[in-house]
Amino acid sequence: MNTFVQYNPTKLYFGKGQICQLSQELNKLGHSVNVLVVYGGGSIKKNGVYDDVMKELKSAAAHIVELSGVEPNPRLSTVHKGVEICKQENIDLLLAVGGGSVIDCTKAIAIGAKYEGDAWDLITRKAEIKEALPIGTVLTLAATGSEMNSTSVITNWETKDKLGWSSPHVHPRFSILDPEYTFSVPRDQTVYGIVDSMSHALESYFHRTKNTPMIDGFIESFLRTAIQTGPRLLEDMQSFEYRETMMYVSTTAFNDTLLNGTDGGDWATHRIEHAVSALYDIPHGGGLAILFPNWLEHVLEEDPSRVKQLAVNVFGMDPTGKSDTELAKEGAQALRDFWNSLGAPSTLGDYDIDDSEFGSIVEKTFIKPGVGTYKELDPESVMDILKRSL
Ligand code: NZQ
Ligand code: ZN
Repeated sequence: MNTFVQYNPTKLYFGKGQICQLSQELNKLGHSVNVLVVYGGGSIKKNGVYDDVMKELKSAAAHIVELSGVEPNPRLSTVHKGVEICKQENIDLLLAVGGGSVIDCTKAIAIGAKYEGDAWDLITRKAEIKEALPIGTVLTLAATGSEMNSTSVITNWETKDKLGWSSPHVHPRFSILDPEYTFSVPRDQTVYGIVDSMSHALESYFHRTKNTPMIDGFIESFLRTAIQTGPRLLEDMQSFEYRETMMYVSTTAFNDTLLNGTDGGDWATHRIEHAVSALYDIPHGGGLAILFPNWLEHVLEEDPSRVKQLAVNVFGMDPTGKSDTELAKEGAQALRDFWNSLGAPSTLGDYDIDDSEFGSIVEKTFIKPGVGTYKELDPESVMDILKRSL
């Protein structure tokens, strides 16, 4: 194992009715707080989450300001609106109520509010992130893990760049996770959430650090749990049991727990997906479902060992009489079949994407140097993965 530091400052309130903790958290700040409530296109008004949040904020005598309309794949233009409000209204706390997009947008507002220039300078690392407004979250979609990590992904629609960034300053102070708040998540978004959280576990799995039996076993258990629970949840979308299992899986899949002691895994597929959705604005989980099995097939041609381990330990394949490459190929196919069985897209054509912008996608994938660690990809390798995905 590598040396590591484990520190996650987000206080997690998990379970039915935990929204009652919101007023307690505000009361801890010791004065009447100015809260900017950030949310998306209106799902929280239909499913009652907005009313629950407002009740809590009012009972804590908070001064409430709202920013609605955060887009899936949140845009820099919305971040700018939020920063403006924070500066005008003297906001003390940002409260994100929604899925990964709302939380990511809120994180970017939090750094922009404490900076004189354009928040994009901070996201692109032209300027250093020195501070941020505090953030709390009420999660409504189990997928990204943003509720308990320091990462955010923002799209600059003018330059067509979708960039991931992170800073310890934007770790949410607290996050409230009530599985009932995810009952209304539609089928397609539920599928994307399953794919995204499995991808986070899978990309963590593709490290090259020796002697990591505990973390590897943990990740395999994650994947088996998602494979068992995903189809049951899609059969019974109002099941508290299945919703709570997937909510816990998705939060823990990307809160650094799965990276303890390893080199951090290989996140090349996320880099390629962000480049695709910067140009085509597709759902993140849908893009991953298309690209990840093709990354697996690309990688196993050079080194089948890890994909073989996935085939045996996660998909339960019998290794008797098979070469490592045969097993690895079966493992990659099993993952593809599983996601297809949930109804996830399997080719770029499912989103009407052809090869006309492949050159640009490759270029955007390398917007930051170094793509992949388990296998470092060059532009030709990324092109190969895209062609396999057609
Ligand atoms: O906008 P509203 O009306 O809220 O509707 C949303 C949106 O249309 C809807 N939704 C959310 N909760 C719902 C609901 N509909 C009904 N009932 C509910 N309870 O779902 C749609 C998608 O929401 P979104 O937040 O975009 O989905 P997700 O959580 O998958 O977030 C995706 C974004 O996160 C980024 C992705 O790239 C993408 O931009 N990621 C963020 C990461 C992070 N911060 O750590 C890591 C990930 O790998 C990912 O890249
Ligand atoms: Zn993801």
